[in-house]
Amino acid sequence: MNKINKKELFGDLLFNWIDPIEQAYCSRGINKTESPLAIDLATKGWGFPFLNFTPKIDLKAENFLKIHTYYTVKIIEAKIISEFLKFIFIELKLKEIIQNATGMRYSVDFFTDYITEHVPHDLQNTALYANQWHRDLAFTKNTLKIFILPKLVTKKDGPLNWLDRRDTNQVLESGFDRDIALPTSCQKLNVNQLTGNAGSLCLIQPKICLHKAGIPEFGNSREQIMIQLNPSRHWKIRSDLYEKQFTQEPNMPFFKNIFRHSVNL
Ligand SMILES: [Fe+2]
Repeated sequence: MNKINKKELFGDLLFNWIDPIEQAYCSRGINKTESPLAIDLATKGWGFPFLNFTPKIDLKAENFLKIHTYYTVKIIEAKIISEFLKFIFIELKLKEIIQNATGMRYSVDFFTDYITEHVPHDLQNTALYANQWHRDLAFTKNTLKIFILPKLVTKKDGPLNWLDRRDTNQVLESGFDRDIALPTSCQKLNVNQLTGNAGSLCLIQPKICLHKAGIPEFGNSREQIMIQLNPSRHWKIRSDLYEKQFTQEPNMPFFKNIFRHSVNL
């Protein structure tokens, strides 16, 4: 028998019933089209929608919110967030690309631009900034996260790491719990990393794919943008994305987002 650990099983049982409801509610009238991204998302749980666009909008920090020594949130003005989202979703057609690939519409529920720093060795297995392998259990399998690099990230800068659906299942079936390292009993795991120039990005289903933040080497740091998308009846952007930068990432979107205002995307 598989040894899926209890926490993982509980997270799955609690939220898996919502997946088909979301799919039915948020996909009405959409024709899903076959594309490399559609195939990647369906088979691997992640994909690259396109690569290396040059961000036209400078995401200048209004302020820096230091969460702790190793993790800082770059606070971006509301107007700049809105311009940036319109640039990638409308001008670069990410909205169309995602809708065609998944057959669903989404709500942009969270935006964050954050900097992670090197962590001393004795603290590296402490949960400081999602630096342990995990899945985002308080979401449905339909949740998508877009990760974007605003500047060059190399392997030394602690890039985002993730596994595809098959490798994730292999790891979970070994009874794995949160850890900085993957179990040595698993064979041939392919760890993907988000490295590259400014504008590199990937799309991940974080409930399906195990992932973790890499830890930068001493003297290095990594800046990354994360955009959380949840299925929605209409494409929209939450009106409080600016304020949410000061809070922890919202989870359980189907319950907690009921009273959040939105504007159409
Ligand atoms: Fe995560």
